[in-house]
Amino acid sequence: MAHVKIAPSILASDFSRLGDEVRAIDQAGCDYVHIDVMDGHFVPNLTFGPPIIKSIRPHTDKVFDVHLMIEPAQPYLEHYAAAGADILTVHVEADKHLDRSLQLIRSLGKKAGVSLNPATPINTIEYVLDKLDLILVMSVNPGFGGQSFIPSALDKIRNIRKLIGDRPIEIEVDGGVNADNAAAIVEAGASVLVAGSAVFNKPDYRVAIEAIRNATS
Ligand code: DX5
Ligand code: ZN
Repeated sequence: MAHVKIAPSILASDFSRLGDEVRAIDQAGCDYVHIDVMDGHFVPNLTFGPPIIKSIRPHTDKVFDVHLMIEPAQPYLEHYAAAGADILTVHVEADKHLDRSLQLIRSLGKKAGVSLNPATPINTIEYVLDKLDLILVMSVNPGFGGQSFIPSALDKIRNIRKLIGDRPIEIEVDGGVNADNAAAIVEAGASVLVAGSAVFNKPDYRVAIEAIRNATS
C-alpha cells in the first residue's frame, strides 16, 4: 500500500499548551496538522479561529490542514489563508456556492478541499472534481472528538476512489480512526488519516502515530 499520511487533530490536544502540542506531533513524525474550526452553528461545538491558528503557525513547518465546520465559510476563507492554512476544506452542506469557494481557495494559493458528512451523497461533488485537491470523508458526525467510526464510510471511500479516477485528489478520512481500523480505511482508498484521540490520548505520540501507520503497511 502507498505511504499513508497521518494528520493528528489538535481538537484532542491540551489547549492550554497548544504550541507545545503542535511541536510534539511535529517531532513525533506527523504529516499534516489537522485543525478543526467549529462555529457553534454548523456544528454544536466551538473551537478556534484565525488568531489562534496564526499563533501556532511558527511552531511547525508541517502542512496546516484546516477543516472548516463553519457556515458560511466563504467570507472567512481569506482570513484562514492569511493565518497560515495550507489546505482549506469547506463542507458541501454549508456552502450554497461550492464551486465559487473552491475557486477562491485556489486563487489564494491554497489547496482546496471539500468535506462530506456521513449522510451526504457523493454526487454532490461530481461537477467540482477538477477544482479539488482533497476530499474529506467524515466517518463521524462532525462536532466532537472521541466518537466511533461509522462503517458505511468505507463504501463511500471506495465509491469516491472510483469517481475521481486518475485525478490527483487526496482522500482524507476523519472521525474514529485508530490503529485497528486504519488498514480497512486505506484499503478502501484513503490516503490521509485524521486521528485525534488515537494520538493525543496516548502517552507517546510517536508510538501512536507509528502504530496507525504500521497498521496500514
Ligand atoms: C470531528 C473532527 C475530527 C475529530 C476527530 O468533528 O472533525 O477531526 O477531531 O477526533 P477522533 O479522531 O477522536 O474521532
Ligand atoms: Zn476534522
